[in-house]
Amino acid sequence: MLSQIGKSASKKAMRVDLEIYYEAMENLYHPEDNPEGTFPMNIAENHLCWDQLRERIQQVTRDNDIPEWVASYTDPAGAPSFREATAGFLGKFLFHCPVDPKTIAFSGGATSVIEMTSFLIAEPGETAVIPAPSYPVYTGDIGTLPGVKRYDLQLPGDFSKSEYDFDLELLDRTKIEIEQARSTFRMLILTSPDNPTGRIYRESDLRKIAEWCMDNEVHLIVNEIYGLSQLDITHPDLKSEYEQPTQFVSFGKIMEEFKSPFLHFWYSFSKDFGVSGFRIGLLHSHNMDLIQAYRNAGLGHSISNYTQWVMQEVLNDHTFLSSYFNDFQKLLTEAYLAFTRGLKKLEIQYNPSRGSLFVWMDLSEFLEKSEDGEEKLWLEIYQQSGILLTPTHGFGHSQKGWYRAVITSIHPSEMKVALGRLGKFVQKRRNT
Ligand SMILES: Cc1ncc(COP(=O)(O)O)c(C=O)c1O
Repeated sequence: MLSQIGKSASKKAMRVDLEIYYEAMENLYHPEDNPEGTFPMNIAENHLCWDQLRERIQQVTRDNDIPEWVASYTDPAGAPSFREATAGFLGKFLFHCPVDPKTIAFSGGATSVIEMTSFLIAEPGETAVIPAPSYPVYTGDIGTLPGVKRYDLQLPGDFSKSEYDFDLELLDRTKIEIEQARSTFRMLILTSPDNPTGRIYRESDLRKIAEWCMDNEVHLIVNEIYGLSQLDITHPDLKSEYEQPTQFVSFGKIMEEFKSPFLHFWYSFSKDFGVSGFRIGLLHSHNMDLIQAYRNAGLGHSISNYTQWVMQEVLNDHTFLSSYFNDFQKLLTEAYLAFTRGLKKLEIQYNPSRGSLFVWMDLSEFLEKSEDGEEKLWLEIYQQSGILLTPTHGFGHSQKGWYRAVITSIHPSEMKVALGRLGKFVQKRRNT
């Protein structure tokens, strides 16, 4: 009764941890009402500054009449006034250079942006290369409808660095390998800061990679969905972990100089703003054919005008945004420090992060050497401590036993309890 895609989608869950996540959400920890409850730290949610943003949004809806355009159809790529507000926000807070609103197109969350971009620039069967470990859901976003294959690029090196060392020869070799397998290296997807490691790409490397991609006619897309979830690495308790750190430079700034049809940028309001439920994602590109294709094909993916209006009012208030991002960085850095201090006490290694909502940590000493060892350990941690981490399968890395914890999805006051539970699990396993 279903198409081939329908049949396969009916059998494949979007992610393997969803059922357990819903179960954990029904049994959340509460100090008085449910002290044995759970800590879901598997889904990339940011709850740190929602109170502040909610208040500003409520002010918008309380103090303003809804404009006429909100009830009607608008440009499927985004209402002009929303594109303008977003260009102003990106230019000031992330790119640090002016952005032309015409180079922006919206759709429902980064998920839809990834899917739309993939089917507009790649043919089914072509390949997207993604340095590993990386966001598991890329596989479905580029694969389910666009039919693009994921190639997990295994970068050499350990997880002790907060910046990528990128060797262009690896791209040359990968291109040959993909062509020998009768596919085409069509897209290179980088995420910076990265999910799950929190690493960033250096400006100098981004420039080199961009040049390689333009020379080889490969589309380079940098996903900066965590672009403003940056840690304050000048914090006195953090400084010593970073030797000669380079400054984070947005790919948007580099694109402005090259203005190439092969360079693109993804963003979403789900992480830095913590409004994953609003479903706002965007493509920024100087390839105007791609933006036009996005518009012409995108009506079914467009965002509600009401959401666009509310967010445009918030984005136009740069005083509020400055204060919001200031507070967010402080809270994010505190959450990171609290979690990593706990890991240090337990002598658990982690990848020093520059940003994102995660800590990527090494639990391989507890891993059973079997096919399903990683899944078993993930379940045991949940069953014995109530902490639900992200299952490590799907990140695409060959090094086993590393797990991702989302540090922004639980209340900062609960972090101590969660770490205490992790500590008990670790001690018990080390004593047996
Ligand atoms: C790297 C990356 N891209 C895209 C997404 C999906 O974002 P959205 O909720 O805007 O669809 C996520 C969510 O975790 C992500 O980590």
